Amino acid sequence: AKQPVKVAVTGAAGQICYSLLFRIASGELLGPDQPVQLRLLEITPALKALDGVVMELDDCAYPLLDSVVTGDDPNVVFDGVNLAFLVGARPRSKGMERGDLLEANGAIFKPQGRALNDHAADDVKVLVTGNPANTNALIALSNAPDIPAERFNALTRLDHNRAAGQLAIKAGVAVSEVSQVTIWGNHSATQYPDIFNARIGGRSAAEVVDDQAWLESDFLPTVQKRGAAIIEARGASSAASAAKATIDHMHDWVLGTREGDWVSMAVPSDGSYGVAEGIVSSFACTTSGGAWSIVPGLEVNDFSRAKIDASVAELVEEREAVRSLGLVP
Ligand code: NAI
Repeated sequence: AKQPVKVAVTGAAGQICYSLLFRIASGELLGPDQPVQLRLLEITPALKALDGVVMELDDCAYPLLDSVVTGDDPNVVFDGVNLAFLVGARPRSKGMERGDLLEANGAIFKPQGRALNDHAADDVKVLVTGNPANTNALIALSNAPDIPAERFNALTRLDHNRAAGQLAIKAGVAVSEVSQVTIWGNHSATQYPDIFNARIGGRSAAEVVDDQAWLESDFLPTVQKRGAAIIEARGASSAASAAKATIDHMHDWVLGTREGDWVSMAVPSDGSYGVAEGIVSSFACTTSGGAWSIVPGLEVNDFSRAKIDASVAELVEEREAVRSLGLVP
């Protein structure tokens, strides 16, 4: 029998994890013949609630769930982990400035980066879902000097999936007809969902849609502000779709993207497409053999250029802010 893969998840008693953990344990992440050990991190006051989640995991009797470890010390929970999902983060509370938010998250992602550095397995892959995801990933990787930077990603797959969904609705086709969508930049309202390189039924999505007014005043704001719209409608933030996207991202990173398509992943920039080197920014990526690469040679028209530059500028500002707090070099 295969050895279990050790999967760490933080924020394990939260909303997203109430969907995420059950998908991981069911085999949706790594396939139907790969056992997993879950290693769940929470803050001390949430450990009791986490016990309840573990009781439910037990009650699901998942054949692939080898065992579950819980705790509030990242140095223990991250021991030997192969995959780490950093979902737990400090949400913005009323009246909180961006600087305060970055500082509060620095207090989480700096020690977690350090703990991964010291205790994770050599092959560890880390995906940050907790917001502000891109900059939290930058903080974590900056504090894990022994782990190659490319093993730290942030989640923009939910934005990618949202964009594909909206395109399918507009074109009146099944979402399976939509491919090569790209989210550029930050997982924030400045993100840029690019349809100029996307395809619908194999044809250029921009040509199929042929509606610049819709693109600018409907599609872009719908995708960029979808998180807020869901909070407004549901009274709680996206959780099931965020968990699904988190699974999609790591599944594809480990097992590879589909031939002829790509996905959106926020990865440490190598300077491609004029994106400032070192920031964690979303690109079109393919993956193979457990490694990602940025899709080269995509067309960036003037409209796209301006949108990408604006989102990258925001990420550079966030980096300056966490630099001045001493969270990244
Ligand atoms: P939640 O508030 O329901 O759960 C977060 C959990 O994290 C809580 O149980 C909390 O106790 C825990 N936590 C806080 N600090 C921790 C620490 N230092 N170590 C371990 N656990 C810690 O939030 P929810 O809805 O599950 O969302 C989690 C994060 O994901 C939020 O930051 C949210 O903004 C973000 N998010 C990101 C998306 C993306 O596309 N990148 C989409 C949706 C949500």
